[in-house]
Amino acid sequence: MNGDTKETIDIDTKAAGTAGDNGTGDLEPPVFAVRGLWKVFGPRADRVPGSAELAALSPAELRERTGCTAAVRDVGFDVRKGEVFVVMGLSGSGKSTLVRTLTRLIEPTSGSIAIDGEDVLSMDKARLRELRRHRAAMVFQHFGLLPHRTVLDNVAYGLEIQGVGKAQRRAKAAEVVAKVGLAGLEERRPGQLSGGQQQRVGLARALAVDPEVLLFDEPFSALDPLIRRDMQEEVIRLHREEGRTMVFITHDLNEALRLGDRIALMRDGRIVQLGTPEEIVGSPADDYVRDFVRDVPREQVMTVRTAMRPAADATEAESGPAVAPGATVSEAIEAVARSGGPVRVVEDGRCLGVVDHAALLAVVAGVPAQGVAA
Ligand SMILES: Nc1ncnc2c1ncn2[C@@H]1O[C@H](COP(=O)(O)OP(=O)(O)OP(=O)(O)O)[C@@H](O)[C@H]1O
Ligand SMILES: [Mg+2]
Repeated sequence: MNGDTKETIDIDTKAAGTAGDNGTGDLEPPVFAVRGLWKVFGPRADRVPGSAELAALSPAELRERTGCTAAVRDVGFDVRKGEVFVVMGLSGSGKSTLVRTLTRLIEPTSGSIAIDGEDVLSMDKARLRELRRHRAAMVFQHFGLLPHRTVLDNVAYGLEIQGVGKAQRRAKAAEVVAKVGLAGLEERRPGQLSGGQQQRVGLARALAVDPEVLLFDEPFSALDPLIRRDMQEEVIRLHREEGRTMVFITHDLNEALRLGDRIALMRDGRIVQLGTPEEIVGSPADDYVRDFVRDVPREQVMTVRTAMRPAADATEAESGPAVAPGATVSEAIEAVARSGGPVRVVEDGRCLGVVDHAALLAVVAGVPAQGVAA
């Protein structure tokens, strides 16, 4: 009866959409909408973004002329609901600074940030606290666990800060501990856990407050490769099962490609390319990106959608093995090798096209497909 107003959402959608760089016509506002964001460290930092002359300098020139470091330079992007948004770049490219400005753990120098259409820069202290405690939970590289507390109490910590009663927070914590595969270890202390287990506690602590978005700053880079792989699987599972929105920082390209729905590749504080793994590997924006992705096994990233051609005739369209349009080239190679002929790309019972030896090899070789006989 009492019209629980949806109007604000509509208005916010328009506001967030005005400078949108991904006009997909989404009706919901993005979880984060970032526009023209700068973070400059150093003396009189705020003169840098406003000055075309200073803003055009290279990082070294800027440092020399002004003593300032532009850690984030004129960055804009949307994080859509339910996606894993990866920010990737080499050490010092501005990833940590960027993710910390999202909840103003670092104050931006200029630009705008909205969460669900709400302006983050105009939030007062109480609203910011609420943002960090309930809406956007952070998982750090060095776990940040409380050494004298048990696993269960570490996980319950965020709920404790929120003022949730003891029985209720311990029940919730136990549930999340089980979810991340730590059942049975509730009463241990962090020092009695392996690195991987400690990071699971860090993850569980962030999940316990049931945040709308999880922010990860290189959470797995201290872990050895096998455990790291395990944790990546855990993130993928959480994403698939719960549809959680995540912003994931990494300097590891393979991790970015494995986890990201979309990847923002940063260099010297700027985003040099923003796209799906397939777009970044298949169409690098410049030589820097091309160099970055040079060693990626293309067949594991590129899908048959980019390699298919129209079916030559009805027989080709209607018979033979089939793969989904999201299948990787690597999967299609296996299917083609088994069948000895082209494989159909089928979606909802409809044949979108076919892929054959030549097209698949062209993807692997990174060259345009040769004129396909029609
Ligand atoms: N508090 C600060 N004062 C001055 N400069 C800073 C500060 N914090 C970061 N910087 C500089 O800003 C740039 C970006 O740093 P940032 O920590 O965001 O990089 P990063 O991509 O997270 O690197 P890493 O992969 O090593 O964690 C670097 O040049 C860094 O030296
Ligand atoms: Mg960092």
